Amino acid sequence: MNRPFGMLAELTYACPLHCPYCSNPLNLADYHEELTMAEWQRVLTEARALGVLQLHLSGGEPLQRRDLVELVASARELGLYTNLITSALGLSPRRAEQLKTAGLDHVQISIQADEPALSDRIAGTPSYGRKIAAVRLVKELGWPLTLNVVLHRHNIDRIGRILDLAEELGADRIELANTQYYGWAWHNRAALLPSRAQLDQAEAVVRTARQRLERKMQIIYVIPDYYSQYPKPCMGGWGQQQLTVTPNGDVLPCPAAHTLKLPRATVREHSLAWIWEESPLFQRFRGTEWMPEPCRICERREVDFGGCRCQAFQLTGDAARTDPVCHLSPDHRVVAEAVEAANAGAEPIAPGRLVPRTSTARRVETMEVYLPARKSRRFSHRYDACQDDKNSDYYSPTDSLESPGDVP
Ligand code: SF4
Ligand code: FES
Repeated sequence: MNRPFGMLAELTYACPLHCPYCSNPLNLADYHEELTMAEWQRVLTEARALGVLQLHLSGGEPLQRRDLVELVASARELGLYTNLITSALGLSPRRAEQLKTAGLDHVQISIQADEPALSDRIAGTPSYGRKIAAVRLVKELGWPLTLNVVLHRHNIDRIGRILDLAEELGADRIELANTQYYGWAWHNRAALLPSRAQLDQAEAVVRTARQRLERKMQIIYVIPDYYSQYPKPCMGGWGQQQLTVTPNGDVLPCPAAHTLKLPRATVREHSLAWIWEESPLFQRFRGTEWMPEPCRICERREVDFGGCRCQAFQLTGDAARTDPVCHLSPDHRVVAEAVEAANAGAEPIAPGRLVPRTSTARRVETMEVYLPARKSRRFSHRYDACQDDKNSDYYSPTDSLESPGDVP
């Protein structure tokens, strides 16, 4: 059996941002009983013993954990390579110095767009200025810096300017990742999925930038799998290389696996080694034995592992089916229809409604999103902001998005 080499530690789901593509669970209130520092230290020790080398500290916003510096120091003592994935809100000069002293190896900062007003609107809070200040701080302290940008219908036309900004800021690496449709992004899919014309244009810009910046900045471009012929080899295979620990101690083969109807595994009841090696959750889709046709007889079954289990579940209601992104899947039409809808009509960007990620529910706010690539147009997007605090109330009565269980 493979050993995991990477662990994503989701330290908290608390977050000052409200990105409508957030992959965090919708039922955030179920995760308030966060692991203590002592519990995390045990988990890290067990992870290292299990073979984990890279620790990715994420959330929500990991800087919201006051004991983050202590956690980083513990991880470094164990010999783990530590990577902080952050919005950078809360990365004060003092905190940054402390993290540097504790041995933090690498920082990834998310930006929503190159243009302050749009970035703030997508983030759902004024944040652009603080992010840029934090980026400069990270460079001053000598950390290797990755900028993370989630691409979607509202910012993908600005990809050239986003790359210019990354160059100007001295990023060593930029990850331009088209939205993956889990969590909040799933509920906002109709408003986020770009058109084929937008993607073609973005890919051309990336190709040119890669040539120009070859020696200066690494550019990772994650294509949107809805437009691919074959699915992504999600997580490098279920329970093969990576694991995720959520704020309350649940252990998952991928960050979205909490959506599947599978037995739970938690570090509060079992060791990490037992969970990795023996738990029904990690064994369920390991290898190729579980596969249905057409995957079972397909020559790509050990290349993409039948795609993504969470996406299969989301799109068909059955996690054991072939990922519908695959053009060979009997369910491929559900993806084809979503793509068709994203490309329908004369208007390349249709007005859509975005539900911002939040841990709270109730009040409905309306915000305007200016789409700069269509200079002469202004589309109004209602943000049904959910303020305090019943998770069952995420959807306002007027909400036009599909309900959680619907197959689009
Ligand atoms: Fe991959 Fe299954 Fe499609 Fe073959 S049939 S390409 S294994 S998803
Ligand atoms: Fe869970 Fe792909 S996100 S298997």
